[in-house]
Order: sequence, then structure tokens, then C-alpha cells
Amino acid sequence: MKKTALITGASGGLGLEFARLCAKENYDLVLVARSEGKLYGIRHDLEEKYGICVHVCAADLSCADAALDVYDYVLEHEIQVDVLINNAGFGDEGSFADSDWQKQYDMIQVNITVLMQLTHCFLREMHRRGSGEILNLSSVAAFCAGPDMSVYYATKAFVRSYSEAIAEEVRGTGLTVTALCPGPTATGFEKAAAMKTGSAMFRHAADATAVARDGMKAMHQGKVLCYQGAFTKLMSIGSRLAPRYLTRKIARKMNH
Ligand SMILES: NC(=O)c1ccc[n+]([C@@H]2O[C@H](COP(=O)([O-])OP(=O)(O)OC[C@H]3O[C@@H](n4cnc5c(N)ncnc54)[C@H](OP(=O)(O)O)[C@@H]3O)[C@@H](O)[C@H]2O)c1
Repeated sequence: MKKTALITGASGGLGLEFARLCAKENYDLVLVARSEGKLYGIRHDLEEKYGICVHVCAADLSCADAALDVYDYVLEHEIQVDVLINNAGFGDEGSFADSDWQKQYDMIQVNITVLMQLTHCFLREMHRRGSGEILNLSSVAAFCAGPDMSVYYATKAFVRSYSEAIAEEVRGTGLTVTALCPGPTATGFEKAAAMKTGSAMFRHAADATAVARDGMKAMHQGKVLCYQGAFTKLMSIGSRLAPRYLTRKIARKMNH
């Protein structure tokens, strides 16, 4: 039977790369993001190139119950989701005191609540079937506190910890949960986070296609954690060895 992958944040950046890779692997797709026009353009390209079926589910995931709306869409269209890629997310640069409260609140909603709720919905179905793969987007930001991007770093630490725990809970059931932790990657992230272009962090940003490819590979291999790229691997070791007062100082410098 043909398999289907649901990808959030599929209108650009890493999400679009995941969509292309899944299409190449002959998955049908459910694409979720706010930019409906972009999603229809992607649908047209991928259906034409790969002969797959692409569903567009335009949704603002920062709205309350957005995850349930996406789940309802899937139920209404009688789609079986075999692969769930919880990719949608964004950051916000600046001191917490000066931050826009609504943006921080929306970030928690998109980066954490929606990811958790979609996982909750689809994990139960996957459990019943005894198969399924979930890929959750964490980050190198999960390794330490992130002054001047405090909420973002905390959301990614949540995603890593939560995904690891669920992965252990489903071990041996035919389901897998993978947390992908990329380093800085060339996407629309910097702009969405209102970061100054050319920050130390993004000077040697990784290629989005390569990051998505490694994430897909780790997911198919059932790996729990994927530290993508040499920078991330180095940061993971460094953050375990260095005292936390030092890692948060380094993170602050790199955010600028
Ligand atoms: N780029 C990096 O350096 C990096 C590093 C580590 C981890 N990550 C993580 O990778 C994931 C993908 O980010 P990216 O780098 O590809 O950034 P991006 O190019 O800005 O893409 C973000 C995606 O999320 C969607 N999105 C944002 N807010 C949304 C909302 N309220 N409702 C629905 N969709 C929303 C956007 O679509 P619309 O605007 O159309 O809604 C877009 O498709 C994120 O979780 C990010 O934290 C990125």
C-alpha cells in the first residue's frame, strides 16, 4: 500500500526539503503551513514530477486547537499517516524583557504544543497498526541555555527531551521517534527570528537539503537522536564537558 507523510512547515526551508525527499521516496504527502499559495505551487511541482498525491492543509499552527484541525482534515480525507514530520517552528532574537509576548506565546504553541498534540493524535493510530515513524525538529539550541533567544532554546530542549522519552516508550512496538538536532542551516529561519544577517552562528550555515537528507536517514534507521553535521556533534560534546556558565556565554556571543 502507498504510504503517506504529513509534514508541518512544508512551505519552505527544511520542511520543503523533507517534502521533496519524501516525494522522491514515493510517499503521498499532506503539507501543512500558513502560506497556502506556496503549498499549492509545491503540490503542482511534486505531483507532476513524482506522480504522487499531495494534500494541502493550510493552517496557522499558532492558533488554539490548530493541531486538532489538522487531525480532522486527515480523518475527513481518510488518510493514513505513516510518517509524521513535526518540522514547523521559529525563533525570536532579543532580550526576553523587550520581547513581544504574543510572539513568545505563539512560539510555545507552534514549537511545543502542536508538535506534542500531533504526536499524541498519530502515535495512538500508529500504535494500533504497529508501525509508523515520527521525526521531531529539535536543534543544537537544545544543548544549552540561549540568552537573547531564551524561549526558542528552551522549546528545542523540550523537543529533544520529550522525543527521547517517547522513543523509549515505543521501543519494540514497530514505531520510532527521532529528534533531529541540526546546527545553523540556510533557510528562512534567520529572517523569521528577526536575527541580524551575518550573525556568527549562521556564517557557515549548512545546506538544507543535506540536513533534511540526514534527518530522513536517521528516521528510517529508527535512531532516537540525530546530531546533524560536524558543528552539532562538536557542540554536543562541548556542552557536556563545559560548565553551563560558559556554554550560555558562548551561546549569547554566537546569537549575535
Ligand atoms: N534553520 C536553522 O538553522 C535551524 C536549526 C535547527 C533547527 N531548526 C528547526 O527547523 C525547523 C524548520 O525551520 P526552517 O529552518 O526550515 O525555517 P523556515 O525556513 O523559516 O521554515 C519554517 C516553516 O515553518 C512554518 N511555520 C512557521 N510558523 C508557522 C505557523 N504559525 N503555522 C504554520 N506553519 C508555520 C513556515 O511556513 P509559513 O510561514 O508558510 O506558515 C515554514 O514552512 C524549525 O522547527 C526550526 O526550529 C532550524
